[in-house]
Amino acid sequence: MSTQITVTVLPASTKAGEETIRALLALALLNSDTKLSIKAIYRDPSKAPAGFTSLPENKFSAVKGDVGDLSTLDFTDSNVVFYIPPPTYDGTDTEKWAHLTAKNIKTALNSAAGGKVKKLVLFSAIGAQHPDGIGILKLNHITDAILTGGEDVEVHEKVVIRPGYFVEGFASFLEEALGPTASISSWLTPLDYRAPVVSVKDIASTCAKEILKPFSPSGITSPRYIKIFGPRHYSAQDLHQAISTALDRKDIKLNPVSPEHLAEYFGQVLPEQYVQEFVDMTTAVLPGGVMADDFGYDDVDENHVVVRGETALVDAIRVVYEGLLRKEEGRKGAAN
Ligand SMILES: NC(=O)c1ccc[n+]([C@@H]2O[C@H](COP(=O)([O-])OP(=O)(O)OC[C@H]3O[C@@H](n4cnc5c(N)ncnc54)[C@H](OP(=O)(O)O)[C@@H]3O)[C@@H](O)[C@H]2O)c1
Repeated sequence: MSTQITVTVLPASTKAGEETIRALLALALLNSDTKLSIKAIYRDPSKAPAGFTSLPENKFSAVKGDVGDLSTLDFTDSNVVFYIPPPTYDGTDTEKWAHLTAKNIKTALNSAAGGKVKKLVLFSAIGAQHPDGIGILKLNHITDAILTGGEDVEVHEKVVIRPGYFVEGFASFLEEALGPTASISSWLTPLDYRAPVVSVKDIASTCAKEILKPFSPSGITSPRYIKIFGPRHYSAQDLHQAISTALDRKDIKLNPVSPEHLAEYFGQVLPEQYVQEFVDMTTAVLPGGVMADDFGYDDVDENHVVVRGETALVDAIRVVYEGLLRKEEGRKGAAN
């Protein structure tokens, strides 16, 4: 018997959203019993990749929506909602943004209650469980609490995804390595200190499987928590080696950014308002920080699972490099 399943992904423009849509489409292709329909919410639907929009509308539709505006959110046709809380760097206070957006999702879910929505798959982050939220992780801490902390979100099953750092987030290391200094400034210190780093492809594969998993019988523990790590944890030295290999270069230097220089470092790329939030998250990850004990692969129990990704760091870095090259070609094409 075939199963029809409608999944709302929002925002679909996030790295995790886009890659999970790709993984969902691939899984549905392998399983002809699953009739999958994806409703992807974008602030700007014209940003949906051509590979998605070329599909028939009953398989993929790009819908205009903004998680900051409740009137644009409608989950009534969905069986599963996959929500990735997007950070905002537009001057909005992170705590206020987290409350506003999570409450919008909660209201939209409850408005659809009694209907088809059976499952919420909520994207979060490693360390989001710590009291009050650490730095920028306040976004996830508050969202997790509002959407999964009590009984007042009327969805039968809740799954919380807590991945480590995205390999794709290290694109800035690659860009610096390719630049005039041929160096990498690493906030991950000491340089041999290992932290969880995982490719978005591995994250998406787990998210897609969770989304399509048959609904749990009533009584099963909900929420369930899934941490996603790479095949092993990686250090700045591992990142340096993977980048040097992917670029086939031997001249790239690796420089540590010591904890007391983190504010200066993040201040070069972030609006001032968000700098301390990144410093706080980073120091929590470094040795002695409150998140440093969250990295165990065997930290499992009845409702906590750890998934070990399969994509080796160097392969994930190669994908990031190819993406940078494509972007550069696009820029050159647009300029000509
Ligand atoms: N990056 C990591 O290493 C990492 C690790 C673990 C967990 N996480 C979690 O993953 C989530 C995503 O973080 P990220 O930094 O990686 O973000 P991201 O995937 O780069 O996504 C940000 C995107 O969200 C969209 N967006 C922003 N505001 C929106 C709104 N009001 N309505 C609809 N769409 C909106 C924007 O797309 P448009 O401009 O195209 O609309 C923006 O490009 C966060 O909850 C984060 O804590 C991230």
